[in-house]
Amino acid sequence: MESIPDELRAAVHAARHVTVLTGAGVSAESGLPTFRDALTGSWAKFDPQELATPAAFQRNPERVSRWYDERRCHCAAARPNAAHAALAAWQTWQERRGARFVVLTQNVDRLHQLAGSRNVIELHGSLWVWRCLDCNAENEEHGPAFPIHPPRCACGGVRRPGVVWFGENLPLAALTAAQEAVEACDLFVSVGTSALVEPAASFLGEALTRGTRTLEVNLEPTPISSVVDWSLRGRAGAILPALVASVAG
Ligand code: OAD
Repeated sequence: MESIPDELRAAVHAARHVTVLTGAGVSAESGLPTFRDALTGSWAKFDPQELATPAAFQRNPERVSRWYDERRCHCAAARPNAAHAALAAWQTWQERRGARFVVLTQNVDRLHQLAGSRNVIELHGSLWVWRCLDCNAENEEHGPAFPIHPPRCACGGVRRPGVVWFGENLPLAALTAAQEAVEACDLFVSVGTSALVEPAASFLGEALTRGTRTLEVNLEPTPISSVVDWSLRGRAGAILPALVASVAG
C-alpha cells in the first residue's frame, strides 16, 4: 500500500466539505463481486443486456428477478468491511469539526449505512426495495429468497427490484442531492469505482472544473487516475483506515 502524502493529509484537515463517490470496489472486501474486474466481475460472467435493462426484464422477468434476488440474499450475509468503517469514522470526525461529509454510492447493498454512514445518497437505488409495476407500491424485503419469480404485489402486479438499470434515469432526488454535494465540496474522493458509468463519471469532471481537490483510491488505474490530485493504489480496506487514522488519530 502507498503511504499517505503529507499534502493530502493537509487537504483532509483543511476540508470543510468532503464528498465521496463509491463503487463496487468498496464492497469487494465484504465478499461482494464488482462488475468489471476481469475474472470475478459480474459483467465478466453475465451479459448486462440480459440482466440489467428494462428490456431484459420484459423479455425474461423470471431470470432477472432471480438474479437480483440471489444478490439480495448474498448481500444479507455480507458485513461492512474496513473501508466502510473508515468512511463512517471519517464522517463522524468531520462532522464533529462542524464540516460536511456526504457519501454518494453506486452500490445497492446498503453496507455504508450498516457501517454507520449517515445521509448516504443511493444513486442506483437499493436491492432491498422491490416495486410493483402496477400500483408502484415499494416495500423493503429482508426475508429469505422469494418462492416465485418475479414476486407479486398484494394488488396482483409484478414486482421488480428497486435498482436503476441501464437506460433508466437516476432517481431525481438522489441526482439533485448528488450534484449539490459535488458542487459544494472542497475535497472530492472517488473510491473503488471504475468511474465509467454516467452520471457518476461526470462528477469528477465537475469537481475538476471547480478547482476542487480530488483523490482516488483504487486497486488499479482508471480513466481518472491521471487527472486527480492524488491517486492511491491499493485496497480501500487498507488505504482508507490508514488515511483516517493519519488525520483523525
Ligand atoms: P466496477 O466493477 O466497474 O469497478 C470497480 C472498481 O473497484 C474497479 O476499478 C476495481 O479496480 C476497483 N476495486 C476492486 N476491488 C477493490 C478494493 N478492494 N479496493 C479498491 N478498489 C477496488 O464497479 P462500479 O464502478 O461500481 O450499474 O460500476 C458502476 C456501475 O456499473 C454499477 O453501479 C453497476 C455497473 O454496471 C448498474 O448495474 C446500472
